[in-house]
Amino acid sequence: MSYGLLRPLLFTLDPERAHTLSIAALEALGHMPRGLARVARRYTLHDPRLAQDFWGLHFANPVGLAAGYDKDARAAVALPALGFGFIEIGTVTPRPQPGNPHPRVFRYPAQQAVINRMGFPGEGAAAVARRLAALPGHPVPIGINLGKNKDTPLERAQDDYISALELLFPYGDYLCVNVSSPNTPGLRLLQGEEALRGLLNAVAAANQRLALQHQRPPLPLLLKIAPDLDNDNLDAIGSLALGTAPLVHGFIATNTTIERPASQPGLSESGGLSGAPLLERSNAVIARLYRATQGQVPIIGVGGILSAADAYAKIRAGASLLQVYSGLIFRGPGLVREILEDLPGLWLRDGYPDLAHARGSTA
Ligand SMILES: Cc1cc2nc3c(=O)[nH]c(=O)nc-3n(C[C@H](O)[C@H](O)[C@H](O)COP(=O)(O)O)c2cc1C
Repeated sequence: MSYGLLRPLLFTLDPERAHTLSIAALEALGHMPRGLARVARRYTLHDPRLAQDFWGLHFANPVGLAAGYDKDARAAVALPALGFGFIEIGTVTPRPQPGNPHPRVFRYPAQQAVINRMGFPGEGAAAVARRLAALPGHPVPIGINLGKNKDTPLERAQDDYISALELLFPYGDYLCVNVSSPNTPGLRLLQGEEALRGLLNAVAAANQRLALQHQRPPLPLLLKIAPDLDNDNLDAIGSLALGTAPLVHGFIATNTTIERPASQPGLSESGGLSGAPLLERSNAVIARLYRATQGQVPIIGVGGILSAADAYAKIRAGASLLQVYSGLIFRGPGLVREILEDLPGLWLRDGYPDLAHARGSTA
């Protein structure tokens, strides 16, 4: 069934219920090899012009799945068949926790926006590790997005990131330290430069120790940031990725915003806003980070991508890779292939020979 037919049905359901159903469908699909192959034929696109390598990883295309959709790695077998170039699992907290009271996800179809205040519900790192350990392989790179439990005091936040990393290290291709969700009280205070240096130093040390223990290279360490930081903050954060011993190897920009655009009243629930109203601000953050790092540090651009033109704008702002979430709710999984089909035409139209030349051209 096409998403055009399915969407009105899904939109009659509570958003979180629709999400749970879609995860259950993908989890079931993961057990059906023939069905999976059929889905892959429909949704995946192979075009060598879209392939890139970062952090020693191969990305067959730049469009990834953002964190928050598959928090517990239930759909990790099936998701690559939807055409993603990489997927990010999580946010995973060390211990299981229920998250905030329901309802906690709200759709705004007229604005193509979502507000969520989920608060990292999840089964915890041990359950996610078991699921990832059972995967038959990694057809696309898998990122693991880590957060802290709500009841862990902020001063002990680093213990949470490290204990989750200890369980998950063998199963990820990159690591994302998430300090930017607006729904865990105090979490975003970790984005201050001093707090961030302390946290990242501790995570980097654990990453090195685990690499020795497991006899594999340390995981590339990415930092996911909020769109609500000011330019001084962003410049300080950019500097963490520079120099001979960088504390992070890339950025994911951005998480949801706590701001509400004045031009769009009605987005009234509390929580993090994503989707179309986030596009412009998240692009501005990407451009600032790109300039602060002289274009030398890969940025995964996320926030408000609902079309190939939006994806292209993010690349021009300075993103090397992209992620989508809210766009999938409004446009369905076909969004990924649509972006991949149209991207090369967009950069060629502007006279860029390839993606790398388009990157950062409006930063
Ligand atoms: C329902 C929902 C849950 C989310 N949960 C997480 C999460 O657990 N961890 C995280 O880093 N980002 C989470 N996000 C943020 C997304 O990964 C992404 O950064 C943000 O939604 C902007 O992208 P978009 O406009 O394409 O949705 C969530 C977003 C939504 C809509």
